[in-house]
Amino acid sequence: MTQPHELEALAVDIAREAGELARVRRTQGVAIAATKSAIADIVTEADREVEALIRARLRAERPGDGFLGEESGAERGTTDLTWVVDPIDGTVNYAYGIPAYAVSIAVVTGEPDPESWRAVAAAVFSPAAGELFQAAANGGATLNGDRLAVNAEPTAAGALLATGFGYDPSTHAGDLARVARVMPLARDLRRIGAASLDFAYVASGRLDGYFERGLQPWDHAAGALLVTEAGGRVGGVGSGGGRPGRAMSVAAGPGLFDALLAAAIGD
Ligand code: IPD
Ligand code: CA
Repeated sequence: MTQPHELEALAVDIAREAGELARVRRTQGVAIAATKSAIADIVTEADREVEALIRARLRAERPGDGFLGEESGAERGTTDLTWVVDPIDGTVNYAYGIPAYAVSIAVVTGEPDPESWRAVAAAVFSPAAGELFQAAANGGATLNGDRLAVNAEPTAAGALLATGFGYDPSTHAGDLARVARVMPLARDLRRIGAASLDFAYVASGRLDGYFERGLQPWDHAAGALLVTEAGGRVGGVGSGGGRPGRAMSVAAGPGLFDALLAAAIGD
């Protein structure tokens, strides 16, 4: 089995190349290619081109591994590894010219199912900021080479939190009720617009915590490993805090996690 740090190095190399392509395409203008689950859920030509680049590089370098990508779907591999890819996380930011977007690449073992997989390595690259977050299982997490650590406890002023709202308007009332439950824990609330960066910012102590309903596997696969490797906790619904997933995803330092999860799921 390939070592986690070798898979991490490949994820980083591909994320950098993919992020540079996204950045260049952004300077050339952005065309919306289609809408997906809802009219607000868009895909640009760049999302598709960047995912194709990532998939082609993985096929060339790791032909036996599986693939699960936001834009081009799933393919089973012959090894125990699957690459979980969001080519541009924060597509609406990208389309509007807000620099908070990222390439998110994780490699996991086991069934390609976030309920049971184990993340081995991850890279989240924010090309507009020139920031590369990376992690390997049991190897720690870094930002541009500097070791990351979550905030163990929020300050007395409360937690700096982030959340997100899905594209489906029918979920917004529930999302806003959740915000009302969580606000007593907060000093303030951010909506950055890219889940992978929300997780990365928890990992780096820029946020104390993050919660969101409705995430897809490629939204949390890489970011969740960044948080746990930076000493934080991730979870969702289910026994023992569960796992991040569509029903709920929460990430925070150890001093905040239980209270944030309970408020987010309405316990
Ligand atoms: C979205 C972003 C956003 C989150 C949505 C995601 P996309 O991913 O991560 O912050 O609120 O749930 O779908 O569509 O930009 O790849
Ligand atoms: Ca995306």
